[in-house]
Amino acid sequence: MGRLQKILIPFLGLVLAFCFYSARENFKPEMLKGKRVIVTGASTGIGEQMAYHLARMGAHVLVTARTEAKLQKVNGKLSTHTCMLMACTHKRRKANLTSQVVERCRELGAGSARLISGSMEDMAFAKRVVEAAEAELGGLDMLILNHVGKSYFSYFDGNVRHVQKLLDINFLSYVAMTVSALPMLKQSGGSIVVVSSMAGKVGFPFTVPYSATKFALDGFFSSLRQEFRIQNVNVSITLCILSFIDTESAVRAAADVLLMSPAPKEECALEIIKGGALRQREVYYKYALTKIPLLLRDWAAELLDYLVRQHYQVERPPAA
Ligand SMILES: NC(=O)c1ccc[n+]([C@@H]2O[C@H](COP(=O)([O-])OP(=O)(O)OC[C@H]3O[C@@H](n4cnc5c(N)ncnc54)[C@H](OP(=O)(O)O)[C@@H]3O)[C@@H](O)[C@H]2O)c1
Repeated sequence: MGRLQKILIPFLGLVLAFCFYSARENFKPEMLKGKRVIVTGASTGIGEQMAYHLARMGAHVLVTARTEAKLQKVNGKLSTHTCMLMACTHKRRKANLTSQVVERCRELGAGSARLISGSMEDMAFAKRVVEAAEAELGGLDMLILNHVGKSYFSYFDGNVRHVQKLLDINFLSYVAMTVSALPMLKQSGGSIVVVSSMAGKVGFPFTVPYSATKFALDGFFSSLRQEFRIQNVNVSITLCILSFIDTESAVRAAADVLLMSPAPKEECALEIIKGGALRQREVYYKYALTKIPLLLRDWAAELLDYLVRQHYQVERPPAA
């Protein structure tokens, strides 16, 4: 009997804990209705899909990308460099794509939809985006930091300048936007959603500079979350740990080398929004490819590293 009690009591504790966690609030699309949301890097990929989901839910969306700025730059040189015409046409097409995202958001039912274009290499631009939200939306409820600078998928080439540039785009601009947005987010009791990667939790080959920027995000935002708790700051921070997703850029870079199928960007985008709305600490997508392997990280790091390498065709590494 005594032994039975020893087993039964912890078991009941586990059942109660499970019930407590599963009784947490469920996601409802209405949670986003009328909310003021910034989505960075929304001209394509996961960011674009997040903008569409938010629009369907009736949010006010403000999206960012570089494309329009690039177009203006090329236009400025047109008269003297006719050879730029072809590039201009290409970039005009990309800029059209970005304004198409805004158009589509309006069609899908967004409370409002706006685009601000510029490069996140420039911290002043990062700050301007937040100022625009204040001026045009009158505040902010959710800041979704998603943009990512172009990098290579190959062995580390030793280029320190590239690492520095990528840190500016993928990390420092996230910090700059957070700092600027905090007063508005504190006022609304809002959320910060940071899109990261498995490569920001575990060492992956061929993505050394990218991985460094994603690890930096974890350090910064996880520490900031702790300070928010201590100071009773009612702003949630959700870090999103993503596996391989079927966006054009990721598939182009990695599909020949990674021995796994990419997960759908539409579903991924929805999971990120749900996690942010429910103020979750972290989002894992796909769960089985992120959360489960991460359980091995602290106790069997060598085994996890080995399993990661098994998913790469290292005998045919990508060209630098
Ligand atoms: N796809 C995956 O397999 C995967 C896996 C794990 C994590 N993630 C994370 O998910 C997020 C989205 O990835 P994705 O695959 O959807 O990326 P993507 O399709 O390549 O889109 C990147 C976005 O960032 C913008 N961008 C690029 N450089 C910029 C710059 N210098 N300044 C401002 N904006 C810039 C791009 O627009 P412009 O080029 O017009 O500026 C685009 O809108 C990223 O944070 C990525 O690390 C993706």
